Amino acid sequence: MKFVKELKRTHYCGSLSVSQAGQKVVLMGWVDVRRDHGSLVFIDLRDREGIVQVVLDPNKPETASAKNLRGEFVLAVEGVVRARPDGMKNAKIKTGEVEVEAVRCEILNESAVPPFQVSDTNVNEMLRLKYRYLDLRSPRLAGHLMTRHKVAQLVRRFLSDNGFLEVETPILYKSTPEGARDYLVPSRVNPGHFYALPQSPQTLKQLLMISGYDRYFQIARCFRDEDLRADRQPEFSQIDMEMSYIDQEDIMEMNEKMLRMIWKEIKGMDVGAIPRMTYQEAMDRYGIDKPDTRFGVEIKDLKSVVTGSGFKVFDDVLARGGIVRGIAAPKGGSYSRGQLDKLTDMAKRAGAKGLVWIKSEADGTLSSSVSKFFSPEKLAEMFKTCGGEPGDCALIVADDFDTACAALSTLRLHLGRELNLIDNSKYKFLWVVDFPLLEYSPDEKRWVARHHPFTSPKDEFAQDLINNNEAAYGKMLAKAYDLVCNGYEMGGGSIRIYRNEIQQGMFRLLGMSEAETQHKFGYFLEALKYGTPPHGGIAWGMDRLVMLLCETDAIREVIAFPKTAKATDLMSECPSDVSREQLAEVGIRLSPMAEKHLEDSKKS
Ligand code: AMO
Ligand code: AMP
Repeated sequence: MKFVKELKRTHYCGSLSVSQAGQKVVLMGWVDVRRDHGSLVFIDLRDREGIVQVVLDPNKPETASAKNLRGEFVLAVEGVVRARPDGMKNAKIKTGEVEVEAVRCEILNESAVPPFQVSDTNVNEMLRLKYRYLDLRSPRLAGHLMTRHKVAQLVRRFLSDNGFLEVETPILYKSTPEGARDYLVPSRVNPGHFYALPQSPQTLKQLLMISGYDRYFQIARCFRDEDLRADRQPEFSQIDMEMSYIDQEDIMEMNEKMLRMIWKEIKGMDVGAIPRMTYQEAMDRYGIDKPDTRFGVEIKDLKSVVTGSGFKVFDDVLARGGIVRGIAAPKGGSYSRGQLDKLTDMAKRAGAKGLVWIKSEADGTLSSSVSKFFSPEKLAEMFKTCGGEPGDCALIVADDFDTACAALSTLRLHLGRELNLIDNSKYKFLWVVDFPLLEYSPDEKRWVARHHPFTSPKDEFAQDLINNNEAAYGKMLAKAYDLVCNGYEMGGGSIRIYRNEIQQGMFRLLGMSEAETQHKFGYFLEALKYGTPPHGGIAWGMDRLVMLLCETDAIREVIAFPKTAKATDLMSECPSDVSREQLAEVGIRLSPMAEKHLEDSKKS
């Protein structure tokens, strides 16, 4: 091992350029691809910074190992950088203007035949996750992890420069509710007792405010047992912060400054003014509280047009206090029956009971699924109100507010993608403000906090909260705000309740008994009594932020070792069973259901 002992690496493969031409370099890396031309062997040598072409003469003793090279062998190469002649340059790679003529090559270690070629972009994701350490060798993932590193550095520096103190909070703790299920950890020394992994450091950062650390931040790991999607992982990281003696404006201003800095540093882009929109407006115009504002196709209200029309579906919905709203699909006038059925199915999967369509030929002639219920004039008025132009197709849903919004926003997003209405080079940011404080959960038959139970109502609703005035619950607005980018909720926060009696009123209205409140949050309510300053904060989804910066649409792509949609790790095969002894130690016995599941999974 002459190389590692005596000759040290001088450069990363991916860092070479013509400025090093003529220079002797020592590289260490993996064989990405090998091309054997008999008298010369070409390899693409890869490290975390990229790839460079190396030329070896297998007939020279110092580079004779070139004959035996295979994919993913790890090598040390000493060689001279030279500019490639014109016509031999490779514009596809960063180092495409140079190559390295090897004077010596040593195989540091061989590799088993890899299950896929690292630089192949067409590999099944399950296989890539099983061999994540190989996938992480790809320039794609290396780039993502480097961006992530840079974001963490920038955020730490920005927040430190602005007087924020980084404080770590425990992972073994008590439930901090954020609307998901807890991951529980049994205690060996306290049998029958459990820790909950934090869904966020919410109560802890508020306690730090009570303790006087008036500007806190942390890049905090959070754990939530919830249904996973492309932008959700069971464990994820938040850029979490909290400030005292501030109002909503101060927090938004500080976060806009940080956002501008990040986009400037990483993307070289100037983020202009960030617009604000109330929750109500976002729902009315886009049907969702995290609208993708890179394209139009906004939702239009048809109530005034269809009231009293005699079409039973619409009349009934309006009589029940529901809404009739629609959008116009650009160029939808040419939709086939099959395409319209597909859109109807999509609306139904989103909860709608049906979908009315009105198609317009290029010459403006209308046809519709409901033409027998409406006069041609009425149809034309409905079509126009939806924003339809000749050649478009209006899509209309009648339902209760939430259902109709969900269906229309699903259709809108689908159209945006399918019709290429979205400019992927753009970032459109938005603050959504004035969220409802509460929402009614029909499943649980009770009111639940929309953000979390520590969020303050707007001042005019504080008394209703203390008095538990149920008539006001549906109307109460919160001092809560979300930072939205391209249809993703990138961050969310609120001004907090800091008076004990309001916090107690909140727990009461959420249906918690005195005993339950004491059991879960007694320590927190006690703390609120000791001079709690007014405070508030926000948390950014760090993974979503990096995902947006890396222009990918799965957060798995920006996490070194992510989990699957079923919350499993395919590489280590966890979660996995443990020995009976270990279970006994923590006082746990498996239920018949769990025993059966274990048996079944052993068979498969
Ligand atoms: P919230 O629950 O809105 O607020 O979370 C803040 C941000 O965290 C990100 N996020 C997630 N990212 C990946 N996977 C998940 N499962 C996941 N869940 C949430 C989102 C979200 O905007 N304590 C409050 C913050 C506060 O009030 O200060 C909180 O956790 O980008
Ligand atoms: P029906 O009279 O039930 O056959 O409905 C006539 C048309 O209205 C069909 O195209 C249905 O898809 C549509 N429709 C039914 N319910 C709704 C609804 N709630 N919103 C929008 N369209 C609906």
